[in-house]
Amino acid sequence: MTRRTRDFTVLIGTTGTVLLLLAATGALGLIEALSAFGVIASVAVAYFAGSAARVPRAFNEPAADPQAAGPVHASPALLMALPLPALEIGPGQKIAAYNRAADDLFQLTSLPFARASAVIRSPVLLAAIDQALDRSLPGPFSAELETGPDETWRAHVSRIPAGRNVLVLLEDLTPVKRAARARADFLANASHELRTPLTAISGFIETMRGPAKDDTAAWPRFLDIMAGESDRMSRLIADLLSLSRIESSEHVLPRGREDFSEIVSAAVAALQPIAAEQGIRLHLADAAAPLPEITAHRDELIQVVENLVSNAVKYSRPGSEVSVSFGASPSLAEARVRASQTWELSGRMTLLQALARSQLPEPAVWLRVEDQGPGIEREHLPRLGERFYRADQSRGGKITGTGLGLAIVKHIMAHHRGGLAVETRMGQGTAFGVWMPAARE
Ligand SMILES: Nc1ncnc2c1ncn2[C@@H]1O[C@H](COP(=O)(O)OP(=O)(O)OP(=O)(O)O)[C@@H](O)[C@H]1O
Ligand SMILES: [Mg+2]
Repeated sequence: MTRRTRDFTVLIGTTGTVLLLLAATGALGLIEALSAFGVIASVAVAYFAGSAARVPRAFNEPAADPQAAGPVHASPALLMALPLPALEIGPGQKIAAYNRAADDLFQLTSLPFARASAVIRSPVLLAAIDQALDRSLPGPFSAELETGPDETWRAHVSRIPAGRNVLVLLEDLTPVKRAARARADFLANASHELRTPLTAISGFIETMRGPAKDDTAAWPRFLDIMAGESDRMSRLIADLLSLSRIESSEHVLPRGREDFSEIVSAAVAALQPIAAEQGIRLHLADAAAPLPEITAHRDELIQVVENLVSNAVKYSRPGSEVSVSFGASPSLAEARVRASQTWELSGRMTLLQALARSQLPEPAVWLRVEDQGPGIEREHLPRLGERFYRADQSRGGKITGTGLGLAIVKHIMAHHRGGLAVETRMGQGTAFGVWMPAARE
């Protein structure tokens, strides 16, 4: 009972007793005594309720008198409102409270009122909790815990002022760690890819200076290889630069109004000679109806078409056909079907989902590049579009490439709020599709 409640009870009790005595001695009628008690009691109740502290104490503000305030807890409402997993732990490592995110992480509902050591498997975190509970040690306390093969959390343990409990707040480090690893992988891959042609070139320079110094008849062949390798290096550098340019401008939306069919025709025409050289028929099907304009970056979309068509040509056998089709659809969902879901019994994967601007169907354009190549095994599909990921490495890897083409396509489509998907049938062919919203009126 708080001091206020006790005072209130004594006041009401005394008033009641006095009025009862007055009524018993006949100084007051029973009715009058009861009405007087009623009036005084309601005024007292109204004052009691009205004078209660309206502003709850912030949970980290120390109570003026801890004894009078009772045990200090983290506000349960505040705990529930936290978007991060949070637990309140008391002496003896008893779990006093937790929120839903903490329940998801540690499965606490199956073990209500458990001790922290029963649910938390991380010795470092348990040690940090113990140290924080021991008020003689200086803080702050934190611990990193691995909750899965690729999942890391950092726990911050802090004391709740003026109480004996501690608050454990967990922060998900997984995306940060993943980004750091991706960056490291990227650097390792990029330098490896650059070093390979460079090693070949220096090897031939050494040969021409040494063993083959006088074998000038062999020089043209060496120079051809060196030229090929240096071309490969400049292509790689151009791809890396274009990826980084697209990435750095990802938040700047394209402005220009463009004609999608003109972009597709121009890009396909530019690739006709390469297809012919490989003995592949490159066929462009005209759209059934005129297309709406798109808000786009022309050069970037040309790069999308070029990358998809050159992959189709590169991974196909001579004598086969690569066909490019495109069109308009009343919604993004339909555009995605037309672009990438037309074969039966195919392996399908959406590598990038188009971002809808509203709930209403949004007119869209789509493009589909279909080949009669070997197909792509299912296990590779989710990783297509990752930088340097090549699905055919295991197949002997005779076809050269660095695995940047689809990463560039994916970034460009993201920049245009569009999508990218693949469907494939082993031994029969692969189709890559992209789609994006039409320009607004
Ligand atoms: N049409 C296709 N048919 C079969 N496999 C494909 C096709 N398109 C892409 N792939 C697979 O996807 C991988 C990634 O393609 P991507 O275009 O990103 O890289 P790349 O063609 O190897 O190199 P780059 O385009 O950078 O020169 C390829 O290595 C290949 O294994
Ligand atoms: Mg490619």
